[in-house]
Amino acid sequence: MDREALTQTNPRKEAGKPTEKLRHVIESQQFTVPMLMELFDRSRGMERLVARGGSLEYQNRIMATLFYTPSTRTRLSFEAAMHRLGGRVISTEHARAFSSEIEGEDVEDTIKIIGSYSDVIVIRHHEEGGAKRAAHASSVPVINAGDGEGGQHPTQALLDLYTIYRERPLDGLSVAIIGALDKGRTARSLAYLLAKFERVKIFFVSPPEQQMKQDILDYLNEHAVLYEMESDIDRVIGEVDVVYQTRIRPHPHLESASVHQFAIHSATLPKMKPDALILHPLPRTVELDRSVDQDPRALYFRQAMNGLFVRMALLTMLLEKD
Ligand code: CP
Repeated sequence: MDREALTQTNPRKEAGKPTEKLRHVIESQQFTVPMLMELFDRSRGMERLVARGGSLEYQNRIMATLFYTPSTRTRLSFEAAMHRLGGRVISTEHARAFSSEIEGEDVEDTIKIIGSYSDVIVIRHHEEGGAKRAAHASSVPVINAGDGEGGQHPTQALLDLYTIYRERPLDGLSVAIIGALDKGRTARSLAYLLAKFERVKIFFVSPPEQQMKQDILDYLNEHAVLYEMESDIDRVIGEVDVVYQTRIRPHPHLESASVHQFAIHSATLPKMKPDALILHPLPRTVELDRSVDQDPRALYFRQAMNGLFVRMALLTMLLEKD
């Protein structure tokens, strides 16, 4: 989907404001640095707004959540975000069984119908490209809450980046992205966002069978972003500012003992920089041991909470009138 379809020129351009208004949120690379900074400014404001109990500003607006596959954080934080803004929510949480897909309805028809009931639609679709198809068919903004196994999860990456931004400058970061990266939609979306900043270096740490896909590497090459592929966590863990752990999935050629080679646990902690940040999009399995939770560098629960603020901010950017 080209940038024009995802944004539109803001006819009310004012000094200091981005010239583009968001139409849909489908892929991370659609965001410019000014858009990210506006989003993060608004997210800080949302932290203060939530501390005051929220607002009623969006009481006449309706958000639809259409999740074809399971979610705890993304769906509930979007729904909480809309409630904190004073808006209303309509929801299908298991759309593969409880929407008309079971009768053969395609996502385009479903979206046209839901768009006539609501002002914004949040969709998690089981096929890569499902959210993009929805956006093409939609008369209201569509937000991709994760598409397929190896698509994208842009709002997760936005909250990941916000969590880092709250702690340190984004230029000059070194980041280890660890896990089964071939199907890691959060890792893919985060790599696109990190590429927007100066002097970033990314270490992709994964079993050789589950390396980051070539399309992301091509994008990083085109944007002169330094990266390395690594399969030994110990070779990078001591030199990075951010450890972004993601799930390790079983693989036919990966022995179950090998999964633990990519795990973060109490013995890993002394090897990390004293001020490193440990992030994980959650949910976790064996790759992030509970013994890490008490470490002050472990930010993943705050990261999940930041999802509320960032999603509130995103909704205001999509719903505000021209
Ligand atoms: N991180 C994330 O997307 O979590 P959920 O699957 O619970 O939404």
